[in-house]
Amino acid sequence: MLTLMAFGWWFFAIPDVSDVAIPQADESIERGHYLVDAAGCVSCHEGIEHPGTLSGGLALTTEFGTFFVSNITPDETTGIGGWNGRDFLLALKHGRSREGDYYFPVFPYRAYAGMTDEDVLDVAAYLMSLPSVKSAVPDHETSFWLQRWMIAGWNRLASALQPDFSVESDPKIERGSYLARSLGHCGECHTPRNIFGIPDLRREFAGARLGEGDVEAIDEQALSQWTQEDFVYLLFLGVKPDGEFVGGEMEKVIEHNTGRLTQEDREALAAFFKRD
Ligand code: HEC
Ligand code: HEC
Repeated sequence: MLTLMAFGWWFFAIPDVSDVAIPQADESIERGHYLVDAAGCVSCHEGIEHPGTLSGGLALTTEFGTFFVSNITPDETTGIGGWNGRDFLLALKHGRSREGDYYFPVFPYRAYAGMTDEDVLDVAAYLMSLPSVKSAVPDHETSFWLQRWMIAGWNRLASALQPDFSVESDPKIERGSYLARSLGHCGECHTPRNIFGIPDLRREFAGARLGEGDVEAIDEQALSQWTQEDFVYLLFLGVKPDGEFVGGEMEKVIEHNTGRLTQEDREALAAFFKRD
């Protein structure tokens, strides 16, 4: 019994994240704004009832149910008013709420886990500087058997299956890796998943299914005919080398994320995906 309790304690324990203050400086808020773009937060959190705010409400339909995106404006009752630095680190890097509940991985916290603490705290600085919007989001409509605590096992399994990514020797490619894997969470849509819905990182960027449609592969093989310039052009304007526009979910990625990056960061992404 004691062993079981100890196991339970270890299994469900809240990660040890220390209390840190959210920075207040304008510089942090500005950096945070850029990071929110680079992380594509707007694509999911933009208000359905209050466009132009991050008050949420978008319905994300998956095979596990329909999930409604949270209000992340600093409203005390319907948003994240009163959150401190620790709450942001727990949510974005560990997928845990301030009360210790598990978030569902439709919120791409496993990608954001790779963010530096400094970047998470600057994101927090920006979010907390925004006007609060009172807007309650509907409850998720999930399959009857799906419970938040089950995500504990899912997280452990996903971590066990995760290969170690080597650190790149070229700082530009390393920056591209950070923008693609941690911030831009490109693999959430472009990497195939196993039967548990865990991205199969051994086949990273090999293409996947999203709802009813297919998402193209963007691995080395798929991009063999592309140049780095083609890739940069796509990330900026959404135009493919053959002159066609990308569609579907990728339009939002370009509008809210890659189209708003500095040219230097788009070039870093291109250098990561398309090695010379
Ligand atoms: C693919 C869609 C998606 C993206 C991209 C996304 N989120 Fe979320 N986020 C969600 C969903 C869905 C939830 C609710 C998860 C749950 O209830 O388990 C959520 C929950 C949250 C929460 C917890 C809110 C609460 O009240 O407990 C925070 C904070 C948050 N997101 C911040 C962010 C930030 C910051 C970014 C960008 C760095 C981001 N999210 C990007 C979908 C997304
Ligand atoms: C929310 C899901 C989603 C995310 C996140 C996402 N993509 Fe996409 N992407 C798509 C879809 C869907 C398509 C196919 C669009 C179409 O049918 O025209 C696509 C197409 C593309 C293409 C064109 C491939 C081709 O051969 O035509 C490239 C390149 C691309 N994405 C790169 C990226 C990069 C880089 C990132 C991360 C910064 C990213 N995507 C993040 C969904 C996504």
